[in-house]
Amino acid sequence: MAEPLPICYLNGEFLPLEAAHISPFDRGFLFGDGAYEVMPVYRGRPFRAAAHCARLMRSLAAIRMEDPHTAAEWRALFAALIERNGGGDQSLYWQVTRGAERGRNHAPLPKLKRTVFLFSAPLVLPTAAVRERGVACISAEDTRWARCDIKSTALLANVLLRELSVEANAAETILLRNGHLTEGSSSAVHVVQAGQLRTPQHSPEILPGTTRSVVEELAARAGVVHCAGPVSEAELRGADEIWLSSAAREILPVTVLDGAPVGSGQPGPVWRRLYAELQLYKGELAGQPW
Ligand code: PDD
Repeated sequence: MAEPLPICYLNGEFLPLEAAHISPFDRGFLFGDGAYEVMPVYRGRPFRAAAHCARLMRSLAAIRMEDPHTAAEWRALFAALIERNGGGDQSLYWQVTRGAERGRNHAPLPKLKRTVFLFSAPLVLPTAAVRERGVACISAEDTRWARCDIKSTALLANVLLRELSVEANAAETILLRNGHLTEGSSSAVHVVQAGQLRTPQHSPEILPGTTRSVVEELAARAGVVHCAGPVSEAELRGADEIWLSSAAREILPVTVLDGAPVGSGQPGPVWRRLYAELQLYKGELAGQPW
C-alpha cells in the first residue's frame, strides 16, 4: 500500500492521521481482537461495497461482535473519507476492534465502545509491465490458524509468510496445507488447467475473496468454465496458469513458482480474457450508484 492519504476517521471524527490516537489497552493492539476490510475505490467510487460490508459483518459475527454501523452508515463514512482525501483511485482500509478496557483480560469478552478506524491510500495497482511479465511466487506450508475465513486483524502468520516471499524477491507466498492449495498470504489463488478455471472451495481454510467472486461472475459471463474445488500441490505445480486475486492487485498472473515456469512461463490466455473483462466491468460500473 502506498503512503496513506492525510485524512482518516477514528471513533466519530475525521482528522489528520497525525492526530489519531488510540489507547494502548485497545484489544486490537493487545490481542489482535478485531476485523478489517480493504476495498478498492475507482474514480471515487467504491468497488463492491456491499460485498465488503457483508464480509465485515460476517467476520464480526464470527468473533462475537455486533457490527457497530449499518451498511448505510458505513457507506456515508466511505463517501466522506474518499471525498476528504480528494477522490480518484484509492485503497480504503477499515477496521473495528473490540475496544479498550482498563487492563488486560483475555475473557470475558467486554461490552465496550468499539474502536472504528478508517484510512485510505492511493490505489497503486500492478503496472502494465508487471502484468505483462507476470510475477514470481514461492510456496510455503500454511501455518495460519483454523479460521482463515475470518478477516481478522490478527495477521502475524500472514505477515511472517509474506516476509518469506520478500526475502526470496517474490511477489507472494502461495500456501499449501497438507498437500493442497489454500490461498496466498494476502490474496486468493486461482489455477487454470486445460482452459478451465479452478479456485479452492470456500471453507474455514480460506478467506472468501471479494475479487474472487468478481472473477467467478466474469468467468460465467465470458463462457470460461469455473469450478470451486480442491487443488492438489501437483495440480498447482502442473497448472497452465496461476493467478492471484485481491482488492489490492486485481488479478495478476504468476509466471514463476518456486523458480520453475508456470505453464509457458508467460501470462496465459484465460488470464488475458478475464483481465480484459474486469476492466470492461469496471468501466460499466463507473458513474453508477453504489
Ligand atoms: N487481503 N486471502 C487473504 C488471506 C487475503 O488477505 C486477501 C486480501 C484475499 C483476497 O480478498 P479480496 O479479493 O476480498 O481482497 C484472500 C487484503 C487485500 C489485505 O489484507 O490487505
